[in-house]
Amino acid sequence: MKTYLKSRSCGELRAEHEGEEVSLAGWVHRRRDHGSLIFIDLRDHEGIVQVVFNPKGAEEAHKVASDVRNEYVLHVKGTVARRPSGTENRNMPTGEVEVRAQGAALLNPSKTPPFYINEDTEVEDLLRLRYRYLDLRRERMHKNMILRHNVTRFIRNFLSDRGFTEVETPILIKSTPEGARDYLVPSRVNPGLFYALPQSPQQLKQLLMVSGFERYFQIAHCFRDEDLRADRQPEFTQLDMEISFINEDDMLNLMEDLHVAMVETIRPDVRLPKPFPRFTYDEAMRRFGTDKPDLRYGMELVDISDLLAESEFEVFQQTLAAGGVVRAICAPGGAVLSRRQIDELTDFVKTVGGKGLISIGLTGEGPVEELTAEEFHSPTHRFLRLEEVRGIAARAGANRGDLIIMVADQEEQVCQALDGLRREMARRLDLVDEGVFTFCFVTEFPLLDWNEAEERWDPVHHPFTSPKEEDLPLMDTDPGHVRARAYDLVCNGWEIAGGSIRIHRRDVQEKMFSLLRISPEEAQYRFGHMLEAFEYGAPPHGGIATGLDRTVMILAGERDIREVIAFPKTKTASDPLFGAPSTVSDAQLAELHIALRPGVVPKESP
Ligand code: AMO
Repeated sequence: MKTYLKSRSCGELRAEHEGEEVSLAGWVHRRRDHGSLIFIDLRDHEGIVQVVFNPKGAEEAHKVASDVRNEYVLHVKGTVARRPSGTENRNMPTGEVEVRAQGAALLNPSKTPPFYINEDTEVEDLLRLRYRYLDLRRERMHKNMILRHNVTRFIRNFLSDRGFTEVETPILIKSTPEGARDYLVPSRVNPGLFYALPQSPQQLKQLLMVSGFERYFQIAHCFRDEDLRADRQPEFTQLDMEISFINEDDMLNLMEDLHVAMVETIRPDVRLPKPFPRFTYDEAMRRFGTDKPDLRYGMELVDISDLLAESEFEVFQQTLAAGGVVRAICAPGGAVLSRRQIDELTDFVKTVGGKGLISIGLTGEGPVEELTAEEFHSPTHRFLRLEEVRGIAARAGANRGDLIIMVADQEEQVCQALDGLRREMARRLDLVDEGVFTFCFVTEFPLLDWNEAEERWDPVHHPFTSPKEEDLPLMDTDPGHVRARAYDLVCNGWEIAGGSIRIHRRDVQEKMFSLLRISPEEAQYRFGHMLEAFEYGAPPHGGIATGLDRTVMILAGERDIREVIAFPKTKTASDPLFGAPSTVSDAQLAELHIALRPGVVPKESP
């Protein structure tokens, strides 16, 4: 955009602009003093161009250029010229040209930044967040934020073209049942009462269906006080959607269309195959040990319990006798791992829910059916019979040179451990193609999860998720086996979206509350507004919410959502730039009718 200081942006200049008089403004990205000639790479939002300052004919400008340092803000007037032959820079979009400065003015100096802006060097996280405004100047972060903008712009256009209406919903509301802890806000004008920040706009978007909007979306800010990980922030953004008169297929087809079009627009080099694979929850758990499978590589889980029924190995015997299972993955080419590396894997598996692992490395040549006792290597060799190993190898689809990794335990622990090992082995064996996007849907999640401590059922998704029609009778007889009309979208092993078809029948909703041990009084107190609204002709409806941060992270090739959030929090939910959270004055607390409990000594964040 033209402004009073800029006739063009630095990054847009090309050979076709040769001879044009330009007025540019930006930051000194790099400065090289070659005695008489000074070269400055001038950077603005669009990119970088080389400016040449020659004392001959532009003495004043040259003087300004002599005094500037990196990150000073500069205004330059000059002429676009082709670079002398042989000095073009093919790595820069503007590399064919340079600007020969005639005038220059310093707009603002800069202190020396605490880290390099012009290099993508490793900088300590805390320092980056403390100086986030400088971190965001760096090319990688700048690109990520522009990518994020392009993603949200694409989504808004795509959904608007399909008849969706974007509706903003409030931030100060009442607790929503997404399962995390709420952030609370005390009310000054209502002593002793609190708002909760929305964990998602779940109830509001369902109410909008009652209001007849039929197709709603929102780029919504959500707040959850939960343990933070690479893919979790205390405040994050969802693409939130709700649609009336739909079933699962309608929803998944829409999500597929949206994601194919989005990825192919943002990354024109990528083509996504349709349809995305769809797995039921049971199938995903059986084949990958997880409900968020990474399909960029194989190594599917196989059950080998039956092959080990006669095993003399105590671990197998005891596990199977206790109702457990033995499952395995086959890591291609993994037989090269040393004993020490296998020990490292054994340590690793303990960090992902396993007690240990049993490995078998296959060597030699020929089909695995002809394997000899000398051609398989295992720390537990003497407990494994040759026939068993041949059977396991055949079932796991193993070849010579591969490593079979087995885990014996209760099913849940085996799944967790082998999911972790599968991801770890893919990383170690370099099986992950980072340029690929593999999407899949997981459907038919269990509706309920038994909460041992509280002796009640918890919703796996949330209490408005509909059970499958044919499983309704199980709500009375076997609630643990009721399947939900819920679905997730997974990409490259990350859960990026989750949603469901909702309950719109009062009797089913009441049954759900009773299983969750939510009494009619409590249901009335917590969700009375929803139950009441549903008495006024609620259409059948369903929805989904995408973690926008996760989607952008994957598209940007990053591994932490903080890399695509302008001002994220640290792992302890603090903001080192503002110093938030922070103490407040006694007067503020008093106004909010709040006192700190005795013994609480606030410790300001770093
Ligand atoms: P759910 O709780 O599955 O569903 O959340 C939907 C998606 O939001 C993202 N997400 C997060 N991203 C970053 N940080 C977090 N702390 C975080 N928590 C969740 C994930 C997840 O898939 N109301 C329902 C949706 C619905 O039923 O329509 C909901 O919020 O990518």
